[in-house]
Amino acid sequence: MAIKNNIILTGFMGTGKTTVGKLLAQRLQRPFTDTDAFIVERDGRSIAQIFAEDGEETFRNWERTVSLELAQQQGLIIATGGRLMLDKENAEALAASGPVFCLTAVPETILARVQDDEKRPLLNVPSPAERIAQLLEMRRSGYGRFPQISTDGKTAAQVADEIVLAVGD
Ligand code: S3P
Repeated sequence: MAIKNNIILTGFMGTGKTTVGKLLAQRLQRPFTDTDAFIVERDGRSIAQIFAEDGEETFRNWERTVSLELAQQQGLIIATGGRLMLDKENAEALAASGPVFCLTAVPETILARVQDDEKRPLLNVPSPAERIAQLLEMRRSGYGRFPQISTDGKTAAQVADEIVLAVGD
């Protein structure tokens, strides 16, 4: 694959986008960017704080800004926030900059991975299991537009290997 392409990871919270993305960046010797971390750095507040103080829309506006900006760059491995690529404009911009892979996991795996993690305001609810099922259902067709890679029962290194094979780098 030409070095100029970005590689973009999407998928639900807890599917391992950041962990796999960092490994992938090491393997391919490319810079790694995580859109959530990028937003936190730019805004100066945590995602939970942005949601609590300004509301979700402010966070989604940040996602739009960073998507358009990162789409102008080349050679990056980009782990995106769980809903970022479900927005048409974000997806069009980033998908034009390189291949997109959607990491998946069954709800039980997701719950185990995100439990006790207060960084995800959408799952900071009395019944995260129900919320995960609900959000997965709402997002099913959106995620379904991208090539899927299951992460259940695999190490992050195995998932990164699959992506390396898929991009032929
Ligand atoms: C979100 C996922 C989070 C973060 C925000 C909203 C979502 O990213 O962007 O809390 O709507 O799915 P991760 O998928 O990296 O947890």
